[in-house]
Amino acid sequence: MRVAIIGTGYVGLTTCVAMAYLNHEVVGVDVDPKKLEALRRGKSPIHEPGIQKLLDQVGENVCFTDKLADAIANADIIMIAVGTPPKRDGDADASYVEEAARQVAQGLQPKRTYTLVVKSTVPIGTNRRVANVITRALSERQVKTKIHLASNPEFLQEGLALRGTFYPDRIVVGVEESEGVEALRRLYRPILEQTFEPPSFLPRREGYSLPPLITTDPTSAEMIKYAANTFLTLKISFINEIAGLCEKVGADVTEVSRGIGLDTRIGQRFLEAGLGWGGSCFPKDTAALLSVAGEYGYTMQIVQAAREVNWRQRQLIVEKLQSALKILRGRTIGILGLTFKPNTDDVREAPAMDIIRALIGRGAHVQAHDPIAIPHARKLLKGLDVAFEEDVYRLADGADALVLVTGWETYHSLDLAELGKRMNNRVLVDGRNFFVPDDAHAAGFVYMGVGR
Ligand code: UGA
Repeated sequence: MRVAIIGTGYVGLTTCVAMAYLNHEVVGVDVDPKKLEALRRGKSPIHEPGIQKLLDQVGENVCFTDKLADAIANADIIMIAVGTPPKRDGDADASYVEEAARQVAQGLQPKRTYTLVVKSTVPIGTNRRVANVITRALSERQVKTKIHLASNPEFLQEGLALRGTFYPDRIVVGVEESEGVEALRRLYRPILEQTFEPPSFLPRREGYSLPPLITTDPTSAEMIKYAANTFLTLKISFINEIAGLCEKVGADVTEVSRGIGLDTRIGQRFLEAGLGWGGSCFPKDTAALLSVAGEYGYTMQIVQAAREVNWRQRQLIVEKLQSALKILRGRTIGILGLTFKPNTDDVREAPAMDIIRALIGRGAHVQAHDPIAIPHARKLLKGLDVAFEEDVYRLADGADALVLVTGWETYHSLDLAELGKRMNNRVLVDGRNFFVPDDAHAAGFVYMGVGR
């Protein structure tokens, strides 16, 4: 099929290369000249495992342009995957989505059938607004063409985006007309039936069963997206709240997670206690859900509480440092990891950013390391006195404490004794329960995890 994808961020670009890999003819559209220039040279502008390899492989099946009207004119499927940044009131800003829809409406050709898919995470009801934008524009242009409007939310995780695209748990399609469902079924058929040859670096997991296609109305599809993300935040905040009590009573939250997660009704994933959730999705989506609820005069207490617990987790780390060092002013704290989770260069809403600001606010000196995200963090923390260290061991030089914020795989091979030797005080606050406490003790550290 001919597919035009508007927006080449994490979701858009992953979809571009995955659809091209499945032998669809794909055009990616973006307004950012820097991104386009990289993509035209065959270079991925984002750090996402496997994307570069697939880009190298898909060749002619994908091209990139800033000419939206040309890209969509002959497309069967047009996907909108532009950003929906948070507004001041917490609501997600759908104006880029609506603007993309407006431009799409100007480029649609008469007497054709299109399926227009909203992939961005949008405020509930956006599909209806997009439908209005399109209908009005077509009637002004006096163009008659058939357009099926679908909501097709994305559940991919950064760092695992291709895995989530090729081997999803389900595909959700919210569309009124059956022809729209059929168009998307055709698009996703190789995934739904798993008929494609897996990329060499991404084999199909044994026991993976075919993903169901969930067809529903657009509003329910929009709600599924928010409810899924919010439920995951509840799970994490719940285990973090339990972790706090574990510390008081002397239980180990990692044991508790295992003990409850093996109950299939609960499930093991997203029960890792730590310093909380961040990133460009969970904080934004929970805020947007609360904002929508607010519009209806409806309160969502559990969601509100999950956010509060999440904020508290970050503060607790600073308090742990304070309890170990007594006074933070003038101390040197080394931060291990700046991204909101490993395998991404994304520092948006990353706990490290808040922890660093809080430490600087209390007069501490901060040194920070990350395997890939220093340039991004530098931008976000501009104006703050943070010493970024490329060499993780130098991070420890003269430090009074280290805080593990992001569980990068490479930190597993750290020589804790060597780090300890370089420090003033051997204090290790492990915000992700990443290290084995006995290893840290053996290296002479005062070790503090979360909930154990
Ligand atoms: C999340 C969802 O998992 C995806 O399904 C969704 O498509 C995406 O948002 C989105 O809306 O675009 P992502 O933001 O990439 O994906 O990150 P996750 O892997 O879900 O992790 C989010 C945060 O939760 C991270 O800061 C992570 O460290 C934290 N987390 C995760 C925990 O603290 N404990 C856990 O057990 C799991």
